[in-house]
Amino acid sequence: MPGLVDARQIDRASISRHLDRARSLREGDPPLAAPTCVALVFAEPSTRTRVAFAQAVARLGGRALHVDAAGSSLAKGEGMEETIRVLGALEVDGVVLRTPVDGLPADLAAAGLGPWLVNAGDGRGQHPTQALGDTLTILAAGLEPEGLKVAMVGDLTGSRVAHSLLDLWPRLGVDLRVLPCGPWEGQAERLQDMGEATAWAEVVYALRPQTERWSERRRAVWSGDEGAAGPDEVAKGDYFARFGVASLAPGQRLMAPGPCWPGVDVAPSLLFADQSLVLDQVTWGMYGRMALMEGLAS
Ligand code: NCD
Repeated sequence: MPGLVDARQIDRASISRHLDRARSLREGDPPLAAPTCVALVFAEPSTRTRVAFAQAVARLGGRALHVDAAGSSLAKGEGMEETIRVLGALEVDGVVLRTPVDGLPADLAAAGLGPWLVNAGDGRGQHPTQALGDTLTILAAGLEPEGLKVAMVGDLTGSRVAHSLLDLWPRLGVDLRVLPCGPWEGQAERLQDMGEATAWAEVVYALRPQTERWSERRRAVWSGDEGAAGPDEVAKGDYFARFGVASLAPGQRLMAPGPCWPGVDVAPSLLFADQSLVLDQVTWGMYGRMALMEGLAS
């Protein structure tokens, strides 16, 4: 089943192909191919990703059908595999899926259910189109991935964006180091604290505390309902001092997949400042998805 479910499917060649097409599309070139109809199946909330996909389909000249978990037979207990088979029977070209279930898009893709499948974020798993758009963002900002110093700070464990970028960026030569706010056993080199992160990095990449995926205990510590925080725990009141992006050095860039919590993970004055690439990520995310779906349609 064609599509994109994991950042490991993205290689250098596909990045440069997508960058060329995304740039041309942004400059107003007409699409070379377009899906007729794409179902956006979202079983978790989303603003950027959902609207970016909808915009991308519309700009290509196709139609997006929104299938929300709460308003579809998913709420009556129908499974995702059955849902995708039904959408295939309705002759959609492709399905874009966001799900809280880790690994589900990969399993469904392996089952080969008919329409192409793109993963728009699965639980703590993967978010490959965010990684694609973020890579287009750094390239378009004139940053060379080879040797680029990126400090990724915040909730890496809960973040599918982190997992996709940790798969993709080191393969492109990015020097990606981390300052996780919770338990984390990944391979990347660790930074000591925000002082080291901001002194070292060319790009500070902020990940919001994804408390919706935290244990009850971690959430209680977060809200101050539990006593002292353990080593991998943090109270909301302490987060900004330990993991928040409070300032940027001259020339240093800020990235974040969003949503951000201004005043908690990023200083409000930095979020949309000149040094911030946060809105560029949103825009390139849309053009990257256009390039991806154009390729899937051709
Ligand atoms: C992220 C997600 O849903 O994984 N957002 C996004 O897609 N742009 C990150 C988040 O929710 O914090």
